[in-house]
Amino acid sequence: MSHILHLDTSARAERSISRTLAYEFLTAWKDKHPDDIVTYRDLGHQAIPHVTEAWIAAAYSSPADYTPELQAAVRLSDELIDELLAADRYIVGLPMYNFSVPSVFKAYIDQVVRVGRTFAVDSSGYTGLVKDRKMLVITAQSGSYRPGTPMEAYNFHEPYLRAIFGLIGVTDISFIYADGLTMGDEAREKSVAAARVEVQSMTATW
Ligand SMILES: Cc1cc2nc3c(=O)[nH]c(=O)nc-3n(C[C@H](O)[C@H](O)[C@H](O)COP(=O)(O)O)c2cc1C
Repeated sequence: MSHILHLDTSARAERSISRTLAYEFLTAWKDKHPDDIVTYRDLGHQAIPHVTEAWIAAAYSSPADYTPELQAAVRLSDELIDELLAADRYIVGLPMYNFSVPSVFKAYIDQVVRVGRTFAVDSSGYTGLVKDRKMLVITAQSGSYRPGTPMEAYNFHEPYLRAIFGLIGVTDISFIYADGLTMGDEAREKSVAAARVEVQSMTATW
């Protein structure tokens, strides 16, 4: 039995392709794994606050030294990290915004990538503390940034996610792309249909 943390990050609701595909994946997955637990967070519609000076001071202090202000500054971060650590699989519905991830997801990352809680650092470097997890990212993009395409160098999406989640120890990351969505009706339909096939086959192999 798995505990899945499902994060949606699109600002759109029903029209969101990443949300729709993530939902389709989970619906098919739950049919096969009815006992799995799913925790859901809609980051696209319930934004996570940015870190503050008090947050930074708390993150680099020992909890034993926390003042009430520092305690309050990291309360949400603690909650989000506890939620992340409670799950062993992550599904993220993730549009590309301005060549990267939506800022709501970056705000989430800033809250959960925290020294002593999700990674450790010493003279030999960084060690991820979030081990033995799997992540599935279902992404929607107007353009296409796949290897060999003219816009390949502008993909700060997948490489960034692999780097930052790799830092905290999450290295088993799969991507499903619905891309080229504004390259004409035919291209869009073809891409979404191909992503749907991948979504269904991923429920057997993930
Ligand atoms: C603020 C914003 C920035 C965007 N930037 C990009 C971009 O850099 N590259 C791209 O291919 N698409 C970009 N798009 C298009 C979205 O990736 C595309 O509409 C995608 O389908 C959104 O995901 P969703 O359908 O789940 O909402 C952007 C959309 C928005 C709203």
